[in-house]
Amino acid sequence: MNILVTGGMGYIGSHTCIQLIEAGHTPIIFDNLYNSNAKVLDRIQQVTGTAPQFVKGDIRDKDALVKAMTEHKVDSVIHFAGLKAVGESVEKPLEYYDNNVNGTLVLVDAMRASDVHSLVFSSSATVYGDPASVPITEDFPTSATNPYGRSKLMVEECLTDFQKANPDWSITLLRYFNPVGSHQSGLLGEDPNGIPNNLMPFISQVAVGRREALSVFGNDYNTPDGTGVRDYIHVLDLADGHLSALDKVGSTPGLHVYNLGTGNGSSVLDMVKAFEQASGKSVPYTIVERRAGDIAECWADPKKATKELEWTATRTLQDMTEDTWRWQSQNPNGYSDA
Ligand code: NAD
Ligand code: WQD
Repeated sequence: MNILVTGGMGYIGSHTCIQLIEAGHTPIIFDNLYNSNAKVLDRIQQVTGTAPQFVKGDIRDKDALVKAMTEHKVDSVIHFAGLKAVGESVEKPLEYYDNNVNGTLVLVDAMRASDVHSLVFSSSATVYGDPASVPITEDFPTSATNPYGRSKLMVEECLTDFQKANPDWSITLLRYFNPVGSHQSGLLGEDPNGIPNNLMPFISQVAVGRREALSVFGNDYNTPDGTGVRDYIHVLDLADGHLSALDKVGSTPGLHVYNLGTGNGSSVLDMVKAFEQASGKSVPYTIVERRAGDIAECWADPKKATKELEWTATRTLQDMTEDTWRWQSQNPNGYSDA
């Protein structure tokens, strides 16, 4: 299939393009490079032997999207493009609603104009807010605590209404838990700008000597060691989840909603220990105040995806930390080293 991959130059999108190419599909990457590096294209080619098609463009540009979908005879769209930093979304809500919500509406309008009726959307476990219990199933109530989360929730709601009005469309909402890890080649990985917001890139930058110590945001949660517990999932397992979704429900009219997680929770200190083992480096840390808006624990019940998509996360915490370390140690400054 020819698949338009918005945001395909980013962390999750680039790994998904590799899996798409290796499964025989043709990804057409559509990205404005706002939060990614053009060198990703070479890296995808080095891994797969295929140079992916790339269109530099903004998802808020309907004409550019229609042109890309028509010229490349696109069958389906996987939509990763968007802004994703929770803290920044509090400072810049308009930019978040414009890129994430308006951008998605423009994309769907362009799909309609191009007669492409199959969409897979990158949603997030953030739509569960502070869940009443764990593990989380897809029918849990949804809510938002910050503009980023609200933008994901709004998009889910818009797409749900749109699918109801257009029952021939297949729309899949994939709710990611905490994506970590890198391609096993060490050629692609997560390369955040500035100080990482997320745990895994922060730990790996400490291990490689770019930062002095990790701040652990609170050790007084009601969890086994007091630190926050999350469902970390290898980015290649997540990528594979998109292929399974396309394969199993991408041509089936309806609204399809799935958690993509492992079903296992790990604490901040579990992650530090696992990373130290994988890298042989020490990761010094200090305990600081809780981060505003954080929840104690969050992990998925992934059974619906296992049953209906025949997908399950197979990569271990050791794979996640070893692969991250390979990427970080071979590219201490991310793609700017390339
Ligand atoms: P990323 O920032 O690495 O990738 C996003 C890509 O989208 C970047 O290449 C960026 O340049 C591009 N982009 C942004 N705005 C655009 C626009 N207006 N037009 C065209 N391209 C644009 O992020 P990621 O971690 O790969 O996340 C991908 C998607 O998954 C996002 O929608 C994110 O909200 C969602 N998600 C991410 C996580 C996570 O922890 N990484 C968790 C849940 C959901
Ligand atoms: C994980 C754990 C922190 C950094 C966020 C978004 C969510 C989703 C994934 C997109 C928590 C602790 C972290 C640090 C720490 N993104 N931590 N020191 O908060 O679960 O989810 O990213 O959709 O929407 O909210 O991930 O990696 O930031 O934090 O102690 O320097 O690590 O408190 O317990 P989170 P995270």
